[in-house]
Formats: sequence, structure tokens, C-alpha cells
Amino acid sequence: MAAKNVKEGEVAMNMDKRIIKIIEKIGKTSDKLIEILLEVQKQSDENYITEKELKIISKELRIPLSKVYGVASFYSMLSTKKRGKYVVQICNSAPCYVKNSKEVAKFFEAALGIKMGEITEDGLFSLEFTSCIGACDLAPAVKINEEIYGNLDRDKIYKIIDSLRKEEK
Ligand code: FES
Repeated sequence: MAAKNVKEGEVAMNMDKRIIKIIEKIGKTSDKLIEILLEVQKQSDENYITEKELKIISKELRIPLSKVYGVASFYSMLSTKKRGKYVVQICNSAPCYVKNSKEVAKFFEAALGIKMGEITEDGLFSLEFTSCIGACDLAPAVKINEEIYGNLDRDKIYKIIDSLRKEEK
């Protein structure tokens, strides 16, 4: 039991150090909040920012936790909930919507065997809707992590998923 507590303590301390290092690298000022949140999230295999991490950021930047949490949950590129290693964000704004973004969502659901808002069992993919990702000329479009994919149809969607799965093997 004591060994377990020591190990947990070490993990917590390493997390503190990791977050503090990120803050020091980016800048310890409140205007860097989004940049810091993005970097912390980028280092997470589950593509989200934990409550503990939000608390450390709040303390270090001297910004109220409610504000840090508010920013982290407001922007669609940030998340305070566990997501897949690949976050599939399906654009649902008007130009994509009229080009059948709902059907695109159904194809992704079928290809991955999950529903919108869920994560695949292997933790690789999660599905969510987002607003315009700036690729309206490619509608219907999705963003998977930093990559944009457009002019989607069923075949393209299955090919994208296949190639990402292959990258993981
Ligand atoms: S509306 Fe979908 S990318 Fe702009």
C-alpha cells in the first residue's frame, strides 16, 4: 500500500513538473492560456486536459479555475473530456450541412462501430461535430487532429480510417 502511494505521488509530481515546464516554455502570462492548454492537450494520448492539469494551470497563471475551465470547454479544439488519439471532427455548419454532413457522420459511425460522441474501444478514434473548420470549398469536410479532409463520400471515409489504422500497426 505504501509503495502504491509513493508511486502515485511520483506520477503526480511528474505531471506537475511537465505542466510547469510547458508554462515556462510558452510564457507565464494569462494571454498565453489557450496556447498552454493546446500544448498540454497535445501531449495527452487521450486528447484532453484533465481536471488536475487545469488546476495546475490555474494556480501557475493565477487565473481562477472557473475561467480556465470555461476557456477549455468553450473552444471546440480543446476538450476536458477523454477523446480518441484521432479526434474526428465533422463540420456541421451550413455549407457542409447542405452537402450531407449528417450522412458523413453516419458513414464514420459505421466505419468505426461507434456513435457520435463516443470513443472506439481501442481508444484510437472519437467522433464529434464541430462548426466551420475553414474548408467550406471542400464541403463536406472533417478535421482529424490537424489534418483536413474534404469532398467526402463513403469510399473516401473508409480509406481514411484504413490508412490511419495502418499507421498504428
Ligand atoms: S462549413 Fe464546413 S468547412 Fe466551412
